[in-house]
Amino acid sequence: MQEKIFLFDTTLRDGEQAPGCQLTTIEKILIAKELELLGVDIIEAGFPASSPGDFNAVVEVSKAITNPIICALTRTKEKDISIAAEALKYAKRKRIQTGIGTSDYHIKYKFQSTRENIIEIATSSVRFARNLVDDVQFFAEDAGRADLNYLAKVIEAVIEAGATVVNIPDTNGFCLPEEYAAKIRFLKENVKNIDKAIISAHCHNDLGMATANSIAALLSGARQVECTVNGVGERAGNTSLEEVIMALHVKNNLPIKINADTTRLYSLSRMVSRMMRTPVQPNKAIVGKNAFAHSSGIHQDGVIKNKANYEIMKPEDVGTKAPVLMLTARSGRAALQYRLQLIGYNEITKDELDEIYERFIQIADVKKEIHDHDLKALMGEENAGS
Ligand code: KIV
Ligand code: ZN
Repeated sequence: MQEKIFLFDTTLRDGEQAPGCQLTTIEKILIAKELELLGVDIIEAGFPASSPGDFNAVVEVSKAITNPIICALTRTKEKDISIAAEALKYAKRKRIQTGIGTSDYHIKYKFQSTRENIIEIATSSVRFARNLVDDVQFFAEDAGRADLNYLAKVIEAVIEAGATVVNIPDTNGFCLPEEYAAKIRFLKENVKNIDKAIISAHCHNDLGMATANSIAALLSGARQVECTVNGVGERAGNTSLEEVIMALHVKNNLPIKINADTTRLYSLSRMVSRMMRTPVQPNKAIVGKNAFAHSSGIHQDGVIKNKANYEIMKPEDVGTKAPVLMLTARSGRAALQYRLQLIGYNEITKDELDEIYERFIQIADVKKEIHDHDLKALMGEENAGS
């Protein structure tokens, strides 16, 4: 029996914080609708107190969405929390996420406060939010660098105050998978009434660990994972939604599962990339242009024999098609023959192929990629162009 993981998407809030990625309200609604079709459980739609535009976006996303919970972010200030509750007025299911820094860095240098005072602020804000909505998520900012015993105290206190979800952010992407997993295990084992709340993993990618840390947390007891499409977000970004979904899709013998329509991932990725004016890097896992492209001779030969040799998931699983095998100076005879067959040369003997390959490799060494018109010219077709 696999336990369900709640999928929390924060593309519209944490993702949009990335430089140059600001979205219009209409774009936010369109992305939110795609997220709903994908099957996410919670959409963090914005930080309503931050600007009238963000307030309006949360209102409009709340009106447009039916099934997922709509979440709005706040600081611990009562004014922020009241504004968030107002922005969520039309949400069919609503959640307020409030929180404060819990590492000594934040306590000392950001708030010039004390550990005790932070607990006081955290619990009052959760109580205040619980008077306005039934579902309150608390975020312990910079939990990745917080003292573990203190973090446990904070989490225990906010659950006592009524938090339904406790978010343990690795705000600065500081943890390694085993460290982050150990934090989650420690909280599971040491916080009184921890089972009254859902533990949420929220990771940043400063050391390239966001997805690994999130999965490690889920395997250690977290039951909600926070992600963004294409991993967009502050600095090096957040945990990538498509990576987490596909990791659990491919590793389908784990005790946890995510319900999502994986075939919508590719188009969602392109939509967000276009709207945020941020290209997806070609080698990006799952949705990069090269994620299913095989280019070396050894790999191409293996794929022609059986795709399973080099594919752990099908491109169709994420809603895209396999690119045609690319011909470069690293390609071998098998890929050359395969591509020649695709343009109609089905009857080439082994000796002919050897001869064509010799000429092919000379051209391929000069050109970065060999296209169909180059192949036709190589085969002596007139007007093949170049
Ligand atoms: O990274 C972080 O700590 C956050 C919180 C506001 C949840 O994004
Ligand atoms: Zn974050």
